[in-house]
Amino acid sequence: MATANDNQATHSTQPDGSLTITDNRTGKSYEVEISQGAIKASDLLQIRTIDDEPGLTTYDPGFVNTASCKSAITYIDGEHGILEYRGYPIEQLAEGASFLEVAYLLIKGSLPTKAEYEQWVHEITFHTYVHENVRGFMQGFRYDAHPMGMLMASVGALSTFYPESNNIDDPDNRHIQIIRMIAKMPTLGAWAFRHAQGKPYIYPDNDLGYTANFLSMLFKMSEQRYAPDERLVKALDTLFILHADHEQNCSTNAVRSVGSSHVDPYSSVAAGIGALYGPLHGGANEAVLRMLRRIGKAENIPDFIKGVKAGEERLMGFGHRVYKNYDPRAKIIKKACDDVFEVTGTNPLLDIAVELEKIALEDEYFVKRRLYPNVDFYSGLIYEALAFPPEMFTVLFAIGRTPGWLAQWVELTEDKEQKIARPKQIYTGDRRLDFIPSEQRWS
Ligand code: SDX
Repeated sequence: MATANDNQATHSTQPDGSLTITDNRTGKSYEVEISQGAIKASDLLQIRTIDDEPGLTTYDPGFVNTASCKSAITYIDGEHGILEYRGYPIEQLAEGASFLEVAYLLIKGSLPTKAEYEQWVHEITFHTYVHENVRGFMQGFRYDAHPMGMLMASVGALSTFYPESNNIDDPDNRHIQIIRMIAKMPTLGAWAFRHAQGKPYIYPDNDLGYTANFLSMLFKMSEQRYAPDERLVKALDTLFILHADHEQNCSTNAVRSVGSSHVDPYSSVAAGIGALYGPLHGGANEAVLRMLRRIGKAENIPDFIKGVKAGEERLMGFGHRVYKNYDPRAKIIKKACDDVFEVTGTNPLLDIAVELEKIALEDEYFVKRRLYPNVDFYSGLIYEALAFPPEMFTVLFAIGRTPGWLAQWVELTEDKEQKIARPKQIYTGDRRLDFIPSEQRWS
């Protein structure tokens, strides 16, 4: 297996070279460089019919075929179901690493030494508390506020407690804000959960590990110290690893886009939480549970599939912009289900999910569109078995994704090729209308 130093090459499988473009409107030809499997969109600006008109641009709704950055953090091969963080296969990290070790790898770019890891864990443990005013802020939400709305608002509010965080070019300042955000995300997530339950907020217990402390802040009641089952701690830690990064997904794109204005990292990550909240993205795990509950029993699956094929609804937890094969994370989560259900007892919805997957994978509609289970299809079953309500599922996704968002944000701030995100448009509206004053319009 290659080591970190062996892999200097880029990972485009296509050879470098050039493109010759002939504009049939003028007969002119242009040479455009191909590098790392891409051409620069700005190279198309030279192609124009009239000298003073803007040159060609590309139109790409949802950025289906547009690279917004160069990144060395996460590699995905959608055709072959490959996912690697800093070159390490997700299967190996899920098996052998801790979530905080993976967080260090993503953000610092290499696996930590023992001393580096101990310092990293100490710093994160030391910063799990939030300012007491944050507690007051969170208590101002309605009793039934969605935890993702509370998390997005609370992370954004942290920017006002650490105004120095907008000094984004200082690596030491970036480091302490990164430590704070990784440390405080579980506290905010747990308090949002407790708020919805009308229970007192539980403060961090810094004698517990990161994930065990999170479970303590969620579920501790009158006992002196919460003692989670180690198998459940390991399962949740693994789920955090599986969600830690996923290259330029919707929420990471939001973090990078907002971060490109040079705002502080809390405001950038709050934007990422907002994007993750959506049912097409991180909100899908909550939608999967609701879908499985609606199906109710296996004999209802054929009618449900008929509705999906008629375009009346989506098979939530299926499909992916990049994976046109099985999402490798879904495979690992499906296996983790067994470990968790050994402790909690199985979830009857698992049988429906397995049967739904089997039917879908044999059905032409899904096969033709290369739709497979993604990371969200099975994760909700584990979360429910861990006694989380569906509205908490995406909060768990956000806690896991935080190191990835921050690693991408650091890469953005250090990338000299990056500029403020400001895409073009193709204008389709009216032009040069004459304004008619209201007294004439309304008479
Ligand atoms: C995540 O990007 C990431 O990396 C995201 C993520 C991460 O780690 O950050 O992996 C996490 O968000 C996973 C995805 C979770 N979302 C869902 O499970 C929601 C259901 N899935 C879809 O809505 C959809 O598959 C997307 C949003 C995930 C991907 O959408 P695309 O790439 O824009 O694909 P599309 O909507 O253009 O679909 C292509 C075709 C369409 O059919 P036609 O118009 O060609 O006839 O496939 C169909 C779609 O209607 N289709 C589905 C479907 N997903 C796509 N039909 C039924 N059920 C589905 N789930």
